[in-house]
Amino acid sequence: MLTHCVGLLPAFIDSEPVKHMSMKPTKPLLIAVVSLFVSSAQAADDDFSPKVFVEEHCTRCHDASVYTRPNHSVNDVAALKVQVQRCHTMVGETLFEEEIDEVVNYLNETHYKFKE
Ligand code: HEC
Repeated sequence: MLTHCVGLLPAFIDSEPVKHMSMKPTKPLLIAVVSLFVSSAQAADDDFSPKVFVEEHCTRCHDASVYTRPNHSVNDVAALKVQVQRCHTMVGETLFEEEIDEVVNYLNETHYKFKE
């Protein structure tokens, strides 16, 4: 998608029928939009910390005790992933698939201890 957008930009600028002067303010904006795509594409890198994410975003409705309560509803890794996917949509953040898996692994290692 990124290459697609960048590829379109020169065509967009060239075909713009406005005079040179009035085009100037558009360019920094386009660059800003492109770098936004670039930085969000890089968000899936190693900077993501499942511990920080869970502590910052997942303690609003329940604390970590739901993971270890005696009758906890999640009984295997697959169910844990479903629950994390369901819950994470409620925190107003969108995670990449790999980041969901990191949160699942983190919760499994720290609380559930299911065998994979
Ligand atoms: C908007 C409120 C809300 C937020 C925010 C939220 N959860 Fe939940 N979560 C719930 C509710 C409600 C339950 C079900 C509790 C119950 O069954 O009593 C639940 C249950 C769970 C369970 C299952 C616990 C069990 O019984 O085994 C897991 C795992 C879980 N949440 C993970 C997360 C994670 C990870 C996040 C952050 C991405 C998160 N939750 C954020 C509302 C929320």
